[in-house]
Amino acid sequence: MESDNYNDLVKASKEAHRKWRLVPAPQRGDIIRQFGNELRNEKNELAKIITTEARKIISEAEGEVQEAIDMCDFATGLSRQLYGLTMPSERPEHRLQELWQPIGVVGCITAFNFPMAVFAWNFCLASVCGNSIIWKPSPHSNGCADALKKAWDKVAGEHKNIVLILKGRNEEAIQLCEDSNIALISATGSTQMGKELAPIVSKRLGKTLLELGGNNAAIVCPTADLDLTVKGITFSACGTTGQRCTTLRRAFIHEDIYNEFMEKIQTYYSTLKIGDPSDKSSQLGPLISEKSFNDMQKVLSSLKEKDTKIYGGHRLEVGSSDEFYVMPAIVEVLQIEEEMLNETFAPILYIKKFKNLIDAIEMQNNVKQGLSSSIFTNDMRESELFLSSEGSDCGIANVNIGTSGAEIGGAFGGEKDTGGGRESGSDSWKTYMRRVTATVNYGSELPLAQGVEFDES
Ligand code: UN1
Repeated sequence: MESDNYNDLVKASKEAHRKWRLVPAPQRGDIIRQFGNELRNEKNELAKIITTEARKIISEAEGEVQEAIDMCDFATGLSRQLYGLTMPSERPEHRLQELWQPIGVVGCITAFNFPMAVFAWNFCLASVCGNSIIWKPSPHSNGCADALKKAWDKVAGEHKNIVLILKGRNEEAIQLCEDSNIALISATGSTQMGKELAPIVSKRLGKTLLELGGNNAAIVCPTADLDLTVKGITFSACGTTGQRCTTLRRAFIHEDIYNEFMEKIQTYYSTLKIGDPSDKSSQLGPLISEKSFNDMQKVLSSLKEKDTKIYGGHRLEVGSSDEFYVMPAIVEVLQIEEEMLNETFAPILYIKKFKNLIDAIEMQNNVKQGLSSSIFTNDMRESELFLSSEGSDCGIANVNIGTSGAEIGGAFGGEKDTGGGRESGSDSWKTYMRRVTATVNYGSELPLAQGVEFDES
């Protein structure tokens, strides 16, 4: 369905949901499996659209389509595993159980940086659960949305309207949030965006699933394998030109290995290939916009006034005049600077020395965001501390891996200003459903719970 009229769009989505919810879940899973096969067939073409619009390098663009394919496989398996619990009833001849039912129309707001994968996280779960979805993509990546919609339409038969696209900007996002026809708003973007949208949804007591900003850190301990660490840190800090919510922004390095680490990371950075993302050899493409470049430069110039050493961060003479390629920045700091507390969506890596792991964990946690975190160590006491309740306060905590590049099998998301939502794997599907607690009396008496007597006899 193509319609510019918002009300028609919502009506069509609701009608599609009413039919789709009657399709047995394993059959829904089968259609999602076919969608996944379509994405497999079109993987290279879809990746090219991502490279054109989001300016991601080919390998990351292909990885992103793979992430969408993985989600289809996951949802297909899930279609036979939407389990509810059965609990022992305290009453004779009663059954107590929970049932999971679809919630209706899901509104999905996605960002430019993962124009296909984040939609797939939401769509595969929402649809296998029996919901329809209205997708508002970033205005930077409408072509990605059109391509996925086309692939869905090829396999969906009479269920094409399970995916409908609402193109636009803030105004359209707000319209979705205000609309009580939309049972769940799943939004990915900045913390500021989340803070604007969430009150609109909660005012009508709607549900939200928020995946917002990160300010992710890595801690490097004395026993770390430094070659592996430097690779992991560079990929997380520079991959996608620093424009992932999981991008590594802060690194705390133990004083015993600080100099060696600095030498190694600078050597590694000097080998980075920055250029046209559609050239197979490029590792970093340009920033998404002039605004991103200006935001990055503003932060770097305010850091220049402070007790810092800055390497890189400048614009490179690559590409056309309206493209902004940069040398990723490394900023050595002696103390926590205010700039480090905010997420700048660009490749700036802050590096600070530490003495005690407890202090490093505290510095890591001492930001408003809580998405992803890493520790590099070969000392299991350190890694276990990091994963314990005294350790990282983030939704994602990795050992000997950078902060970015999560697999789909785990639940993805974070705490505090990151919004608290969980998408993708594990039991994230439950957010897209309504839980029904059902008590069935199959006897001929009516015993009341908690032993309550109501009949006078
Ligand atoms: C995001 O930047 O919004 O873990 C998502 C990762 C990717 C997803 C990032 N799989 O870096």
